[in-house]
Amino acid sequence: MSILKEINELKKNKNAIVLAHNYQPEEIYQVADFVGDSLELAKVASEVVADIIVFCGVRFMAETAKILNPRKKVLLPAANAGCQMADMVNAEKVRELREKFPNAIVACYVNTTAETKTECDVCVTSANAVKVINSLTQNQIIFVPDKNLGSFVAKNSKKEIILADGYCYVHDCISIEDVEIVREQYPDAPILIHPESKREVVDMCDYVCSTSQMISVSKEIDAQTIVVGTEVGMLAKLRQEVPEKIFVPLKSNALCSDMKLTTLEMVRDCLAFEKNEIILDKEVMEKAKVCIDRMLLLS
Ligand code: 13P
Ligand code: SF4
Repeated sequence: MSILKEINELKKNKNAIVLAHNYQPEEIYQVADFVGDSLELAKVASEVVADIIVFCGVRFMAETAKILNPRKKVLLPAANAGCQMADMVNAEKVRELREKFPNAIVACYVNTTAETKTECDVCVTSANAVKVINSLTQNQIIFVPDKNLGSFVAKNSKKEIILADGYCYVHDCISIEDVEIVREQYPDAPILIHPESKREVVDMCDYVCSTSQMISVSKEIDAQTIVVGTEVGMLAKLRQEVPEKIFVPLKSNALCSDMKLTTLEMVRDCLAFEKNEIILDKEVMEKAKVCIDRMLLLS
């Protein structure tokens, strides 16, 4: 039996659903019931009625699915898949920042552990960060951990944003020179950029998008060739969704190694043996849910 068939049989027999992030290896798309960005995946996970969610992505995303749908069994095929940026802040650091800025509230990027989220007031994703922050009544906001996304929010808000020092190594390495080179090569091509990139790079580009917003913008804009400034796995998704257009990477070696850990064999095995389950403390889940729910309400 082919591995695709095996996985589909297991999904049916075990009443399981497979969710995958846009950056996952292309072969994983074939077994996914839904592929999307962090916000879409969180929303879909909260509504899953199946018994098991197989989450093809990194740990914080699977944790978010568990927090939003705690009665379901959530499995992470690549058990070691983490997010290096999520590990740049923790609950202790958030408490220290609160002490330093007692009048501020704390907004966290969804790219944080469940433990970190327990200390935060509201969560955001790349798709809704500006909207969520601007709809808060408080004026002073500590933003963790991504200094680049935080700085993009600060530019698009009247709020006082206190930045942390985290960053995504995949996006932070996209440089001004990368934009200059691609502009010279493709002078008429619009550049889409993910807001985890440096502020000075974002300022040079044409559309600031979450991964899934890149798909909708690419469909809408009147351009045949489009430059994509994010993790290169996104190009496979764009080519699938918008086959009539040409997509060029802004940086061809922008690769998230953790996102690429998942294999079809891992999906099959974790489903067959129901292993790599996300287990979180009940109190942690309840506390972390408060800031995620607040985001979903505001976005
Ligand atoms: P999106 O929410 O845009 O999918 O981004 C998640 C992420 O980890 C980007 O590096
Ligand atoms: Fe984390 Fe960056 Fe990988 Fe996204 S691309 S999961 S932010 S390390």
